[in-house]
Amino acid sequence: MALDKAQIEQELAKALSAISQAADLDALKQIKIDFVGDKSPLAKANQALGSLEATQRAEFGKLIGQARASVNSAFELKSNDLSDKRDLVALQTEKVDVSLPVRRVLKGGLHPLTILTNEIADLFIGIGYNIAEGPELESEWLNFDALNIPADHPARTMQDTFFIEPIEAKLVLRTHTSPVQIRTMLNQKPPIYVICPGKTYRADELDATHTPVFHQVEGLVIDENITMADLKGTLDYFAKSIFGKNVQTRLRPSFFPFTEPSAEVDIFFNGRWIEWGGCGMVNEKVLIACGVDTKKYSGFAFGMGLERTLMVKHGITDMHDIVEGDVRFTQSFGVGIK
Ligand code: DAH
Repeated sequence: MALDKAQIEQELAKALSAISQAADLDALKQIKIDFVGDKSPLAKANQALGSLEATQRAEFGKLIGQARASVNSAFELKSNDLSDKRDLVALQTEKVDVSLPVRRVLKGGLHPLTILTNEIADLFIGIGYNIAEGPELESEWLNFDALNIPADHPARTMQDTFFIEPIEAKLVLRTHTSPVQIRTMLNQKPPIYVICPGKTYRADELDATHTPVFHQVEGLVIDENITMADLKGTLDYFAKSIFGKNVQTRLRPSFFPFTEPSAEVDIFFNGRWIEWGGCGMVNEKVLIACGVDTKKYSGFAFGMGLERTLMVKHGITDMHDIVEGDVRFTQSFGVGIK
C-alpha cells in the first residue's frame, strides 16, 4: 500500500467526524470496527509501514501514530460521554417512587397440620427418636392381620376401609399409621424409638368432625424394661410440649387388638378432660409376629389424630376449615417458616 500524507489526514478527518456524529453506543460499536479496529484504514496504513524505507518509515510512523492516538482518544471520550448519557436516561426512566402505596403480595403459609407435624417431629427427635415412614397404600396384612386385627373385626368392613381393586391384591388405603409399627419392627432390631406421622384414610363423609383423609402420629418404643410408666411419662412430655406445661394426662382402660393392656389417653385442657388418642403396651402376639424376643424386650405404642390435636389445641370447631385450604385460615397460624 502506497502511503500518502493527504490520504492519512483524510482518513483521520473521516474517523473524527464519524465519532463525533455517533448518536449512541450501538453506532459507536460499528465506528470502532470501521475506524479504530485492526481493519480500519489507519490500522492498515500502520501495517504498511514495514515496507517503507527507514526515513519514510519514521516520518509516516509519526504521522500515523499521532492520527491513531487522536482517533483513540476521541473514541474514548465519545464512548464515556455516550455511556454517561445512557446511564442518566436509565436513572431517570427507572426511577422508583418510594411514596407510592405498596401492592400487597399474598404470601402462602405452611398448613397448620404441617406446622404441627414438624413440631411433633422436633420434640421427639429432641429425645432421641427417629422418624419412621410407610406407604399410604398398604397391604391388608400389615394394616390389620399383623396388628392382631382379625378378619371379622368391624374395622375391616367396607364401611371403614377403602379397599383397592383388584380385591385379590389385598391392598387398602391404610386406616391408621399403626402398620408402620410392624414395618419398623420387621426392619430393625430393638432398641426402637420412632414416631410415624402420616396420612390415613377411612370411608367417612366430610363433616364438622370427620374427613376421609386425615393424619395420625404413631409412636413406638421397644427396649428392655419398658413399662407403662415410660408410656405415661412420654405422653406427658408430648402433651405438655404441644398443649402447654399445665396440661395433665390421664390413662383410661380401653381395648385395641395390638396393645395389651390398652388405654385411651385424655388431656385436661381448658378446664375439661378431652380424649386425645389410644395407647398401650405392645401386644405380645404382635411382638412375636415381628420376631421380637419377648423375653428380653417389651414396648409401648400410641396413636393420635393430628386434625383432632389441632382442633383441641386451637379451638377449631369445623373440620372444613382444616381441609379446605383457605389461605386466610392458614395465615391465621402465621407463615410458619421459622
Ligand atoms: N391405630 C389406632 C386407631 O387408629 C390408634 C392407636 C391406638 C394407635 C393404640 C396405637 C395404640 O399405637 O397403641 O384408632
